[in-house]
Amino acid sequence: MDFGIKNRLSKIFNPKTGKTVMLAVDHGYFQGPTTGLRDMKNIVPLVPQADCLFATRGILRTSIDPAVRTSVCLRVSGGPSILGELSNEDIIISMEEALRLNASGVGMSIFVGAKNEDRTISNLGRLVNEAQRYGMPVLAITAVGKEMARDARYLGLACRMAAEIGANFVKTYYCEDFHKVVEGCPVPIVIAGGKKLPEMDALKMTSGAIKAGAKGVDMGRNIFQSDSPVGMMKAVRAIVHKGVSVEEAFEIYRAGGKSLSAETIDEKMEKA
Ligand code: 5RP
Repeated sequence: MDFGIKNRLSKIFNPKTGKTVMLAVDHGYFQGPTTGLRDMKNIVPLVPQADCLFATRGILRTSIDPAVRTSVCLRVSGGPSILGELSNEDIIISMEEALRLNASGVGMSIFVGAKNEDRTISNLGRLVNEAQRYGMPVLAITAVGKEMARDARYLGLACRMAAEIGANFVKTYYCEDFHKVVEGCPVPIVIAGGKKLPEMDALKMTSGAIKAGAKGVDMGRNIFQSDSPVGMMKAVRAIVHKGVSVEEAFEIYRAGGKSLSAETIDEKMEKA
């Protein structure tokens, strides 16, 4: 890997911990105004808490302060809405646009086992070819159709394919025996949160993923749909970057991210 890719990856994965808390707010690109993202002002206090923001260009242009220190991973695939055939995605954003938006990475979905799996995989190959030229890391997202089992066998297949095609890191879903997914994938894995869960369950999932070898999260609904989005953000950060217990993280969430422990964790990270 050359300097450019490594330098950009260091804006996504905190070099002190090797891990990342990405905030996913790209849902509108196929779902429209998702609960919690209807008014994008809701995510303003969350953005500085994230290592990286996973977003579309439309949201960056309209709703994000360009002076923010948080890095950006740009969603570059799209096409179908939630009403259509989801696997019918293409690459819809140029590398030039990603560079203009100062992205530290670009992300697209692959749909292994779905109607258009082969096209989404060859799109990933083409994106990696182009991204390589510019030193741009590529995130492959293993989208799971309704009919697919979210198990280690399926997710392991999809993650390994993404890595073999050349993705620099992969986003997938947590599952039982998640360590098998991680062991079979030679590039870092981050987990999506999926549908909103009770906060304790979302924190258990985060902790389980990190213990199984995930390098972080690219989480959306379990943060911005929480009754305390900032609290959840800080709680997830504490698990990912400091390895705190689920119980400690839950306390941070309950205190709205304002507990002494949350402050202490952030201060320690600043000084580390
Ligand atoms: C949609 C995505 C989302 O960014 C991803 O699902 C993360 O969000 P959530 O934690 O809400 O699942 O990639 O394809």
